[in-house]
Amino acid sequence: MKILAFETSCDETSVAITKGTGVIVNYTRSQLVHSEFGGIVPELAAREHIRYIKPLTDRALQDASLKMDDIDAIAVTYGPGLASSLMVGLVFAKTIAQITGKKLIGVNHLEGHIFSVLIDYPHLKPPFISLIVSGGHTELILVEDWFRYRLLGETVDDAAGEAFDKVARLLGLPYPGGPQIDRLAKEGNPQFVKFTIPRIKSGPLNFSFSGIKTAVRILIEKNPPEWVEKHRADIAASFQETVVQMLFRNVEKAVRMTGVEKVAVVGGVSLNSRLREVFRENLKEVYFPSKEYCMDNAAMIGVAGYYRLKAGFESDLSLPAVPDLPLEYVNDYE
Ligand code: KG4
Ligand code: ZN
Repeated sequence: MKILAFETSCDETSVAITKGTGVIVNYTRSQLVHSEFGGIVPELAAREHIRYIKPLTDRALQDASLKMDDIDAIAVTYGPGLASSLMVGLVFAKTIAQITGKKLIGVNHLEGHIFSVLIDYPHLKPPFISLIVSGGHTELILVEDWFRYRLLGETVDDAAGEAFDKVARLLGLPYPGGPQIDRLAKEGNPQFVKFTIPRIKSGPLNFSFSGIKTAVRILIEKNPPEWVEKHRADIAASFQETVVQMLFRNVEKAVRMTGVEKVAVVGGVSLNSRLREVFRENLKEVYFPSKEYCMDNAAMIGVAGYYRLKAGFESDLSLPAVPDLPLEYVNDYE
């Protein structure tokens, strides 16, 4: 089954053609227009999606040597994400589905991230633990079965990637900050600042990143600029180390609590080199998507769509964009 997939929930315009868990083409255009603003400007994001979705689709079909007739179904992210950005992909996907009469499947963006790991590891089967760490999400999920998710923990404030982006900004680094901190941290001492790992009352597997972000801000404010300049790499390394340890501790606890030893880490922050090192050294079985499938991409939407269609799910043309779409969980873990 060949699927033409679209992902426009945030600041990446992505079009892919997938076949099962295989990727025929995946073209992702990251929007650079936001870098001078230190965050995403929704109106600019939507405009860029409008400008690039059609050329990317034409190129995908052309490079795959396929015609629209060769496509079996259309998959599209319908939430969560920015309303106007989601609308661009959704209207485009629904229009093609309506004109061609092809099947349409709406995919939850978080479910897309969960399935992203199957592109490199097609034989991975539930149960496994999935840690989704991106610019907008930090969720620790037990995938009990396909489409059967149990929420083990989530952030009570900022997302992990958001913390990287905000701390990068405090250090004068451009957006997105995660890769910048990752790079700078390699030259720094991770033990230079001892940040505390917060205890979170709302749940043993929840996360909180706003405290460490504030701690970095205070550290920068109360020290002379020359000192901050001299120790930028040390601050970046100490911050990164603490965040990685926070993520790792909860995953380790989740493995103990559930008895499930397979762990997948997905989303933009799963690209972090120190995170990969710590998780690989300390977990029995850990899976990371390759780089192009960590960040937002349409290939993961195509793969999740394939699993959904195969299981009998299908959307119709009334499929709405749902900016706050949650992943559907079975009862919270006790
Ligand atoms: O999954 P993604 O592309 O988009 C969202 O759905 O949010 O994730 C983007 C996030 C950004 O916050 C970015 O700073 C972070 O992933 N990121 C990283 C690294 N590469 C990207 N964070 C830490 N280390 C990295 N190497
Ligand atoms: Zn994402």
